Amino acid sequence: MSTIKDVAKAAGVSISTVSHVINGTRFVSEALHAQVHDAMALLDYQPNALARGLRRGGQTKTIGLVIPDNSNPFFAEIARSIEGHAFANGYGVLLCNSDDDEQKETTYINALIAKQVDGIIFIAAGAGYAQLKRLTKMNVPVVIVDRETSHAQIDTVILENEKGGYAATDYLIKLGHRRIACITGPSQLTPSANRVDGFRRALTAAGLTIHPEYIVAGDFKRRGGELALHKLLQLAEPPTAVFACNDMMAIGALKTAAQRQIAVPAELSIIGFDNIAFAEAVSPALTTVAQPVAKLAQISVDRILLRMSAAANANLAAQRIVLEPTVVLRDSCAPLKKGE
Ligand code: RIB
Repeated sequence: MSTIKDVAKAAGVSISTVSHVINGTRFVSEALHAQVHDAMALLDYQPNALARGLRRGGQTKTIGLVIPDNSNPFFAEIARSIEGHAFANGYGVLLCNSDDDEQKETTYINALIAKQVDGIIFIAAGAGYAQLKRLTKMNVPVVIVDRETSHAQIDTVILENEKGGYAATDYLIKLGHRRIACITGPSQLTPSANRVDGFRRALTAAGLTIHPEYIVAGDFKRRGGELALHKLLQLAEPPTAVFACNDMMAIGALKTAAQRQIAVPAELSIIGFDNIAFAEAVSPALTTVAQPVAKLAQISVDRILLRMSAAANANLAAQRIVLEPTVVLRDSCAPLKKGE
């Protein structure tokens, strides 16, 4: 049975540093954190539970939840749903907001490991996923939600984003629009990349040309949507319809249209993605592509519960669970104006 002394030796650090890493009692650099955790994994070291306070039945009955931006209602809503389902199953949730920052994400993962959470539900800040390898090596149960990676065989719960992008664009085409723009999210994130693929497929399927100037980079933030529509409205032939890859950017675009006295939907149609609660509260109410947030949350919690039950964890094959998007029709889209 390895001891804390063996771990310190293998990691090339002091015993007190190992103790601080395990107990989260003092800041330890990310590099030293990784050295200590790698040594613990190598030696299969199990910290003495009594040294860190009582743990009931080898569990702390807590789940870590890492999200990229808790100021975005999509993440706030899915976090609330995850917390509610986990709590109903006897688990508390430690919420970590990475601010779309992978360094901060690493710090939080270290803290969750130090706090000995029983499992982690993870929505990635970027495309790096470096932390997943460590967590897998340490046998920490993990479920990925919303943004996926091909780097690891890990339970994944996502939306069929390409189909959602196709449905949004096809809806605008059927309204008669031909000059259709797309405001993308961060291109390295799979949800945005796949939605843009759907946008392209719908235009191609309708025999329409894909104009590069009509695809403008956004950032999934409201301000990014505002600026992207300003850019689109500078074009010699501005779009008559816009597909924004999330509702926050669509709401930003609504603001820009209002600032420039462009009537939505009479002069410009705008469709979003997510169906956050605010989508029906803005004016005009936003037509959008809905994500089944409650279902995404429930499935991710059920999956992590299964993973955390030691009996199942051993050889449960990783699953990729894909849910369907649906278009929600409200007031921000209309047929192309005659003569446009
Ligand atoms: O609005 C935030 C976006 O980031 C959502 O569309 C969600 O899919 C996440 O990836």
